[in-house]
Amino acid sequence: MARISPRRLSVRVKNSSYPIVVGMHLEKELVKALRRQGKRRIAIIADTTTRRLFADRLGRFLKKEGWSVEVIHFQSGEKSKNQNTVARVQEKLLRKKFDRDTLVVALGGGVVGDVAGYVAATYLRGVPYIQVPTTLLAMVDSSVGGKVGIDTKYGKNMIGAFYQPRAVVADLAFISSLSKQQVVNGLIEAVKKFMTSEERSLSLVEKLDPAHPLGNPRVLQEIVYRSVRIKARVVMKDEEEKNERKILNFGHTIGHAVEFLSGYTLPHGFAVAYGILVESKISELLGILSPRESATVAAYLRRFGITASGLKKYPVARILRAVKGDKKVRSGVAHYVLLRRLGSVYTKGGQYAHPVPERIVRRAYKLLVK
Ligand SMILES: NC(=O)c1ccc[n+]([C@@H]2O[C@H](COP(=O)([O-])OP(=O)(O)OC[C@H]3O[C@@H](n4cnc5c(N)ncnc54)[C@H](O)[C@@H]3O)[C@@H](O)[C@H]2O)c1
Repeated sequence: MARISPRRLSVRVKNSSYPIVVGMHLEKELVKALRRQGKRRIAIIADTTTRRLFADRLGRFLKKEGWSVEVIHFQSGEKSKNQNTVARVQEKLLRKKFDRDTLVVALGGGVVGDVAGYVAATYLRGVPYIQVPTTLLAMVDSSVGGKVGIDTKYGKNMIGAFYQPRAVVADLAFISSLSKQQVVNGLIEAVKKFMTSEERSLSLVEKLDPAHPLGNPRVLQEIVYRSVRIKARVVMKDEEEKNERKILNFGHTIGHAVEFLSGYTLPHGFAVAYGILVESKISELLGILSPRESATVAAYLRRFGITASGLKKYPVARILRAVKGDKKVRSGVAHYVLLRRLGSVYTKGGQYAHPVPERIVRRAYKLLVK
């Protein structure tokens, strides 16, 4: 396999600045990042899968490097991203007498990252944490930016915090055990970023075979690096999502509703793909996106197996009801990020998210799901 050198960037926000490294076999980078925090005890938080695949091995390695290490894990899957899991993890930390000399390592996909980050944000009023993403989705998106939190029966990510990690170490070697579906799940979040901010990078995604992502490690590294660069830029301008960071929510108003209606069985990236499909159609109906570019978006998603027929399972009336429960509703009206053209979103009066009447959403749905 071709050797690749690590690529680096950093995120500077109000109260912190932290490095991100993207490469392959980054154990030494991780040790460096951990040492910089000057803590004696490490709590590796994992789920059942990442515990079995990586956490015990990583724990033994870090013990040899001189740390006192515990692995705490919970059941894999979105259904675990809740208050119960947070309470159980906190209880274990308390029982094991973890004090302020503690560093949390979030070892897993977006679910582990969001839960472990939230635990770190609240444990003893905040202990530092490092993101070690193990899914492509977590590498290209969720491990960066400091949004941490959990779902409730009222909707996704309704409880949480902005709490930045001290470092993100994205080791592409973890990708080797992901299924093709999990790779596509992550690629869709990368595609979303390129569609809103960097059209030229879409061609990179075309070069990657999701069944063999490590067949071309340089391309994979470039996709992760560029995705993270887009996210870092946006987060640096608007850490707490007052406006510009909303750009990252393209596809998410409908996407979160789809994910919610699927009972969280549909992976996040796939739900977002349906969201992108509907929200591009809405952009087209509002005369913001050309029909030709809207068709290009749909064609792009088709290559990942996402077509409008998949929306039949999620009737528009139920989608609209679910949308109302989301955070993207302001004064009772749902807000959407709209595409102006490939690589650029629509802004009006300096705003990145816009109210859209329900009748437009219904019409978009009707045109798509014939
Ligand atoms: N905080 C943010 O900014 C942000 C952004 C986007 C998404 N998210 C959140 O991320 C979550 C989705 O993340 P996800 O898709 O990574 O889901 P996930 O964390 O549930 O991971 C998917 C599955 O892959 C397994 N897994 C993890 N690493 C593996 C590996 N290397 N090999 C084999 N299996 C592995 C996990 O155990 C799990 O079963 C959602 O909860 C979403 O809301 C958060």
